[in-house]
Amino acid sequence: MKKILITGGAGFIGSHLVRLFVHKYPDYFITNLDALTYAGNLENLTDIENSPNYAFVKGDITDESFVEALFEEKKFDAVIHLAAESHVDRSILDPMSFVKTNVLGTGVLLNAAKKNWTDLSNKLFYHVSTDEVYGSLGEVGFFTETTPYDPRSPYSASKASSDHLVRAYHHTYNLPVVVSNCSNNYGSHQFPEKLLPLMINNIMHSKPLPVYGKGENVRDWLWVEDHARAIDIIFHKGIVGETYNIGGFNEWKNIDIVHLLCRIMDKKLNRAEGESEKLITYVKDRAGHDKRYAIDATKLEKELGWSPSLQFEEGLEKTIDWYLANETWVSRITSGSYKQYYDQQYTKR
Ligand code: NAD
Ligand code: DAU
Repeated sequence: MKKILITGGAGFIGSHLVRLFVHKYPDYFITNLDALTYAGNLENLTDIENSPNYAFVKGDITDESFVEALFEEKKFDAVIHLAAESHVDRSILDPMSFVKTNVLGTGVLLNAAKKNWTDLSNKLFYHVSTDEVYGSLGEVGFFTETTPYDPRSPYSASKASSDHLVRAYHHTYNLPVVVSNCSNNYGSHQFPEKLLPLMINNIMHSKPLPVYGKGENVRDWLWVEDHARAIDIIFHKGIVGETYNIGGFNEWKNIDIVHLLCRIMDKKLNRAEGESEKLITYVKDRAGHDKRYAIDATKLEKELGWSPSLQFEEGLEKTIDWYLANETWVSRITSGSYKQYYDQQYTKR
């Protein structure tokens, strides 16, 4: 039985990936290591928590002795590393927690793998990263796997550092690694600090919709399950030492997405046409706000046969329906420490 460690499996993308692997590969044993920070939520995984090929371990990837003991005990064959501090706005408020988890935490995992994998055959360290490491684009062009790194927020700089560490362990110690850099994900179970779930939640509660700057920044959106599918394909078919970009070929200006959400939700909530759009409020821009991200995922499509499965409008409807049907999931989050974060981030902005 192949023993796989997935880190950050109680988060947004991680929980989709863990579910996919637990269902699809009954002959793999999946250990989900997650510190359950504000972003980690075991409610995301209740449907698989008793599966015979799954175990959850609560722990911090920056805790070196704990991580090394876990590797020694479990004898993992592979790691898929997603655990991270993931929100750009929080990285502006508290950069050091991003340096700690994303840089140090990745280093600790790499070291544990290096120490324990005396025989490197059939081992793999898969590092899940972001397109933000490439910096910001102007009106035209795309990020490819050879675009030079130019991270501009504490979040993206910490992810870029972790990518470099992963590649350094490959070049220096021959650690078998693969890296993927993905664009903005959306879908169910996303923490309502990110654009889409925050706007959906605020529309549901008729609260102001805080659009940064003029709302003209562009992001490339991908259905989270398509990201999980891409990771599955790269994990099994990707070439060791390579990098794969993952994206939706689906660019949207923020303000256009917010208008679209308002229109769809007015219908679903039986509101008059245009009612939710009145909630749109332009607020002070994010510091150092990257203008545009756009991924060229041709390599992944051509070499490994992946492509996005879902049209954006269809995915958005599914996402909205999930949030409308899971108000308790959202309200358990928004009634806790989220309130404090929200006030700090948005009040008097
Ligand atoms: P998330 O914030 O929803 O989840 C992160 C998870 O990591 C949480 O469960 C949290 O508890 C856990 N975690 C945080 N610090 C930890 C620590 N020190 N030890 C152990 N666990 C810890 O993030 P996400 O959006 O699911 O992103 C997952 C990964 O994918 C990240 O590495 C992120 O950089 C990358 N990524 C995200 C996106 C996106 O659009 N969300 C796009 C591209 C890449
Ligand atoms: O590109 C991949 C990255 O996408 C991931 O690596 C990150 O983990 C993920 O958080 C995401 O980063 P962004 O900063 O692009 O996502 P966010 O949802 O925070 O913001 C999307 C856009 O919406 C961005 O231009 C800022 C804007 N925004 C965001 C929020 C939360 C607003 O206008 N208002 C808001 O309240």
